[in-house]
Amino acid sequence: MDYKAFIDEQIKSIRQQVGNGTAINAVSGGVDSSVVTVLAHRALGSQLKTVFVDNALMREGEPQRVVNLFAQMGIPVELIDARQTFLKALAGLTDPEQKRQAITDTFYRDVLASAVKRYGARFLFHGTILTDIEETVAGIKRQHNILTQLGIKTEEAYGYTVIEPLKTLRKDGVRAVAALLGLPDQIVRRIPFPGPALAARIVGEVTEEKLNVVRKATAIVEEELANTGAFQYFAVLLEDRATGIRNGKREFGQIIVVRCIDSTDARQATVRELPWDVLHRLCDRITQIPGVNRCLYDLTPKPPATVEYV
Ligand code: XMP
Repeated sequence: MDYKAFIDEQIKSIRQQVGNGTAINAVSGGVDSSVVTVLAHRALGSQLKTVFVDNALMREGEPQRVVNLFAQMGIPVELIDARQTFLKALAGLTDPEQKRQAITDTFYRDVLASAVKRYGARFLFHGTILTDIEETVAGIKRQHNILTQLGIKTEEAYGYTVIEPLKTLRKDGVRAVAALLGLPDQIVRRIPFPGPALAARIVGEVTEEKLNVVRKATAIVEEELANTGAFQYFAVLLEDRATGIRNGKREFGQIIVVRCIDSTDARQATVRELPWDVLHRLCDRITQIPGVNRCLYDLTPKPPATVEYV
């Protein structure tokens, strides 16, 4: 594919669709939403309003890091603190699809819709990619950013028109476009992180306490595996508990699973054979997190597993 031509076409098409109106987009710092941000910003300049929604489900230091990074590229990003709104919406939910639904509804219907109103925007950019659409339509897993493909009329439901410039690309294509757009390496090569964020890494109910545990474990995994070049690596907090011993006392503690996979586009994945010393270091550090007394390594490829647990 000629990605240079793709960029030119998208910029032209965005200008045509938006005209002299105002558009809004939410950036997460992932490669998809970052590419959309730069494309739309090149097309629209100050007609584009970019927000970062802090949904309480982000990794350590992520909100500020993303805002600062785009500021360096000359793209202003408004930080919206919606932590309590999301935590309330997730309280009591254990079913994966209900959790996704709650995040989707809170994100689009509450938080973004009010930002859209505030800015008087009529268009919303999405970083939807082809794999998201295929898997959602096939009923494998509902990606949180799929709306129109499921027959949701966003004009009626949320009051804005959705534009999806990346919907013909897969992850490898998005990375190629990101590099051509001059995005920094830390974004071009950033491992995928799901829209539902750390809520996808907690089996069962999402609480602030569990978020703190999985956030710490995620930071350890990302630090230890940063140089592996693997497609994706992360920590998952299980709902089960296991007996352990801490300071000579019995503890019914939490269980963290570490996953590290190779893939080109996340449709299929194989498990990285990590060296034992790396696995031991991960286990040592993760079991130092208060309350966590087991660390497991997941050997399951996709299929039969999916990448995420939720
Ligand atoms: P699964 O778990 O479906 O994951 O095998 C495939 C890829 O998609 C990411 N993923 C998501 N991304 N919203 C997203 O934006 C979601 O709801 C979602 N679920 C999974 C996952 O991290 C993997 O890279």
